[in-house]
Amino acid sequence: MRLVVTKMNLGLWAAAYVKEKINAAAPSPEKPFVLGLPTGGTVVDMYANLRLFHKEGLLSFKNIITFNMDEYVGLPQDHPQSYHSYMRQNLFNEVDIRPENIHILNGQAADLNKECADYEAAIAQAGGIDLFLGGVGRNGHIAFNEPGSAFNTRTRPVELTPSTMEANSRFFLNDLRRVPHQALSVGIGTVTDAKEVLFLASGAKKAEAVARLFEPGKDLNWPITALKLHPHATLLADPEACSLLDAAAKAKLDARMQAEPDAEHWTLEIEEA
Ligand code: GLP
Repeated sequence: MRLVVTKMNLGLWAAAYVKEKINAAAPSPEKPFVLGLPTGGTVVDMYANLRLFHKEGLLSFKNIITFNMDEYVGLPQDHPQSYHSYMRQNLFNEVDIRPENIHILNGQAADLNKECADYEAAIAQAGGIDLFLGGVGRNGHIAFNEPGSAFNTRTRPVELTPSTMEANSRFFLNDLRRVPHQALSVGIGTVTDAKEVLFLASGAKKAEAVARLFEPGKDLNWPITALKLHPHATLLADPEACSLLDAAAKAKLDARMQAEPDAEHWTLEIEEA
């Protein structure tokens, strides 16, 4: 795994990376590109830049299949804070994706376990995920895999922790009672099965989660550390999200930044264990 630190807008960096990956793969109806997609505040700029690339004719979604990470249980799909609504607003309404290629978990399904099993089957049917994009919770959660989730978990119903509900209450008029306490989420194993993984962490609130990546081994209490076991995983972070790195990692990063002050980004390798 590697940490990529940039002073650029993370969304622009990530969208440019995604565009290059997709265009290099030259997806076709026979060989579509399969993207895992996140929601949340961090990735809003990434979607804005993806929309822009599409508008400029630099990126087409025609041969792209998408699987979103998660959805709240119980929110109608047209609720303004459902991840269905988020995806329509931030991406799908403005690009040339085929509706049948969009997959988002249905948090109102009558049988939630079946919904999750069907989702895993649909991912397998699509040939697996080529690039899984994601954000990071303040407590290190990925998708809605809260601390303590096993690293081999698959798509399933999950309970949100009070800390995540509190963090997400800003999208629900700051009223904790309005925040759903359950979600459907891809598992950590579903994410790490992807051929490549790119996660984004922005701001000081994510600094503890980023710092955990440099502690030896993996830590079930910090789901983000599961990415250390992936051969092709990147965490893209801004300097604020790197403010709690341990002294050795910080010294390495400072040295890279001083050696190449004008670089677009700086990279640190993260040991697997
Ligand atoms: C939610 C999502 C996560 C996301 C996290 C961080 O909990 N389920 O996938 O990573 O929010 O959100 P933000 O980017 O708003 O900090």
